[in-house]
Amino acid sequence: MTDTEPVLHQVSFERAEPEVASDTDLLEHILGTQDRMPGVRRIRDWARAELSIRPGQTVVDVGCGLGTELLELADLVGAHGMAYGIEPHPGLRGHALRRAAGREQVRIIDGDAGALPLAAGSVDAVTCERVFQHLHDPQAAADEFARILTPGGRVVLIDTDWETFVVSVGRPGVVARAIAAFRRRLPNPRAGRLLRCQLARAGLLVDPDVVGTLIVWSDEALRAMELLRVQLEMAIADGTLTRDEADDFESELIRAVDAGEAFCSVTMYGVLARKPG
Ligand SMILES: C[S@@+](CC[C@H](N)C(=O)[O-])C[C@H]1O[C@@H](n2cnc3c(N)ncnc32)[C@H](O)[C@@H]1O
Repeated sequence: MTDTEPVLHQVSFERAEPEVASDTDLLEHILGTQDRMPGVRRIRDWARAELSIRPGQTVVDVGCGLGTELLELADLVGAHGMAYGIEPHPGLRGHALRRAAGREQVRIIDGDAGALPLAAGSVDAVTCERVFQHLHDPQAAADEFARILTPGGRVVLIDTDWETFVVSVGRPGVVARAIAAFRRRLPNPRAGRLLRCQLARAGLLVDPDVVGTLIVWSDEALRAMELLRVQLEMAIADGTLTRDEADDFESELIRAVDAGEAFCSVTMYGVLARKPG
């Protein structure tokens, strides 16, 4: 590490975390599947290009998950730069740490988007994908990103708006109830449409050219159904759906996938902003 290390206090990076979270395997599988989705890859390519990252710079991926994008950013900053991943989930952090082993310019840190362990004005670029939908106070996170950026530094926020979810099968009333219950379980289900406003309120100069991409579930992802099955079980548990309704929906979806007729998508938005100066 150099004297310019912007981490303010020593936290849990560089140590392998035990696999404490029982949901880690499921999350790894879901995030790994999403990493391969063309829409996700497209918007990440856009984000990297807009962040204009140069060798030697310091970048942060907030809520880095498996670390897939973080490692791409590390390649861009090179051996003389620094790529920080902030990840509060111990199992995901452990996964990212293992993938980053031996990469000197990568640090993976336990932390919260609303209280980052990084000094003010110390970071050239911030990226944060599909994290704001999980935040109770997304404005605090946007304010933090503005705080840590250098003057002229850039941030890209990418997030889903779950009002845009569509699926081609299922009785409309059942699907509407299930997706409404799913949205109620998220702290910020309309995250995508709010990003621009939150970045502007943080004092950043927001690019008016908002980018959108569809996450389209592949047949492979639909057939595996991990996320869906968890959601259906929760919907049964809280009385949103009967078991029969959930089972009917699941079998109808599997039939449609087998027939090559299933379609399921949600829109993700990407917003770029710059710190004045
Ligand atoms: C849908 S995953 C996205 C992971 C990764 N950004 C990607 O695109 O694959 C949401 C991520 O946000 C992280 N997260 C949730 N709450 C957070 C918080 N308060 N601060 C930072 N990250 C958070 C989760 O642990 C998880 O890694």
